[in-house]
Amino acid sequence: MSRAAARQDSSGVYKRLLGYSLPYWKIFAVSVFAMVFFAATDTAFAALMKPMLDGSFVDKNPDTIRFIPLAIIGLFLIRGVTGFISEYGMAWVGRQVINNLRHEMFQQMLRLPTTFYDKTSSGQLISKLTYDVEQVAHASTTALTVMVRDTLTLIGLMAWLLYLNWMLALTFLIAGPFIALLIAYVNKRFRRISGRIQASMGGVTEAVEQAIEGQRVIKIFGGQRHQTGIFDKVNEANRRQQMKMTATREASVPLIQLLAGSALAGIIALATSPEMLKEITVGTFMSFIVAMTMMLAPIKRLTNIHSSIQRGIVAAESIFELLDREAEKDTGALRIERARGAIEYHNVSFAYDTGKGRVLENINLGIEPGQTVAFVGRSGSGKSTLVSLLPRFYDLSIGRITLDGHDIRDLALESLRNQIALVGQEVILFNDTIANNIAYGRGGEVREDEIVRAAEAAHAMEFIRQLPQGLHTVIGEKGVLLSGGQRQRLAIARALFKDAPILILDEATAALDTESERAIQAALEQLVRNRTTLIIAHRLSTIERADVIVVMDRGRIVEQGRHAELLARGGHYASLHRMQFASPQEAAGIR
Ligand SMILES: Nc1ncnc2c1ncn2[C@@H]1O[C@H](COP(=O)(O)OP(=O)(O)OP(=O)(O)O)[C@@H](O)[C@H]1O
Ligand SMILES: [Mg+2]
Repeated sequence: MSRAAARQDSSGVYKRLLGYSLPYWKIFAVSVFAMVFFAATDTAFAALMKPMLDGSFVDKNPDTIRFIPLAIIGLFLIRGVTGFISEYGMAWVGRQVINNLRHEMFQQMLRLPTTFYDKTSSGQLISKLTYDVEQVAHASTTALTVMVRDTLTLIGLMAWLLYLNWMLALTFLIAGPFIALLIAYVNKRFRRISGRIQASMGGVTEAVEQAIEGQRVIKIFGGQRHQTGIFDKVNEANRRQQMKMTATREASVPLIQLLAGSALAGIIALATSPEMLKEITVGTFMSFIVAMTMMLAPIKRLTNIHSSIQRGIVAAESIFELLDREAEKDTGALRIERARGAIEYHNVSFAYDTGKGRVLENINLGIEPGQTVAFVGRSGSGKSTLVSLLPRFYDLSIGRITLDGHDIRDLALESLRNQIALVGQEVILFNDTIANNIAYGRGGEVREDEIVRAAEAAHAMEFIRQLPQGLHTVIGEKGVLLSGGQRQRLAIARALFKDAPILILDEATAALDTESERAIQAALEQLVRNRTTLIIAHRLSTIERADVIVVMDRGRIVEQGRHAELLARGGHYASLHRMQFASPQEAAGIR
């Protein structure tokens, strides 16, 4: 709907784009200035026809004969220099604008709320930053140059025609309104098709991305044909729309030239009528015809360029739509240096989508500074959701969460997140060295022994030492060059390195073997002493020593207490525990 609204107001899009080039108005002005001269050389060339024919050929004037060749060289010299200046200047401004736009888009991307990413495919987003931006680039450099320069050329030539013989010139102008109507229609069509091309480009990127991400699954489940089918469909849709664009463009050019040509024919017929022939010289006539034929090329380019401009506008709309999206709410101004780590959930209910059911239902929970709280419960019971509300990955629908007594919405986002280190259920690493992954987010100089200490605590140093480049080994995209357990240990090291007062571990040791897990457990026990730790684990053995165990079921807290208490109570926890530690027969209820 926002796209439709934006489309009605394309002048708004122009203005906004222009706003981006405003800081570079000087270069822009120089380019336009150069274009004026460039355009003038065309008119001058047509004008030269008159003295050349009348002077050199008809009157055989020796001055004119000498002057004309020099004038031609001069004209081409001016044309060359001003052509370069205008093209280069426009490209410079255009590229600067694009650079800024991309920068803004990237910044905006980092500010967008998690819900945006839940709903947008990364392929579509990547396509915006690559394809869409390039369309704007083309429209605002090449297309704009052609537009300004050729329009100026047309104005210059037209002025010359009017000067030579206004009656003949006006005849030519009759074609104008018809051409304008045609261009208006064609433009509308260009814009419609551009939108579809853009969407299909997003589709292509998306299909490629899915195939890259899922390559192993595709191979083992034999999904090649299915995946190719999906790709071919978007690829074909793209081809079809591109061809429609080409057809419209290439049909409009000869149509417009036909209109202009008819006007030309009309003029020749008029000019060669006996009354006219008496009035005008050969030079005037030739100059007139040359000027008119010289108008055909700019007209053609101008018609052609409209498709680029429409593409650019549609792309700019899509870019602005991204830029105008609401960023994460960051209205809190309170900053805390280092939190004590007291966390309270008050009547917290949460739904990912307003229409859909609640994932958390009336959660009340108090966590004291330095406590280790473990969350257990069936898959999908809302554990990850509960902890992800604390760094405000999602905003609460109902209730409130406090940190050291402050509502987390009153804290500046950055300050809140500074207090939290997290190892998520899915390990995310960057294609960089191990050292940089561990010290991630910390600007400035980082001492290597600090990194080593974190890596030791996470039991990562053992495998890091084995690597030929040690801490300086590059680990590949998402850490593909490491094993699952190694990746997880790096993620733990990164969290420990941050040394935040709150530590969230969501299945942080799930990929580790029992031995490494025990070892990390021991290290963690040291580390969790002076910080509040929220830990989610399916393997109950890892959380037996937690200060509080919170048992969740279908978005509610159903039990809470220490390991021994909960076991003795014989409720949910006790039965979960029995299932994990019992033999399969016992688990099935056969005692
Ligand atoms: N980004 C999301 N958008 C919409 N629904 C979601 C999203 N993430 C989770 N859910 C839904 O919320 C519910 C709780 O999910 P959550 O990830 O909190 O469970 P969990 O207890 O961590 O499970 P697990 O032990 O499997 O990790 C699930 O029913 C899930 O379908
Ligand atoms: Mg989870």
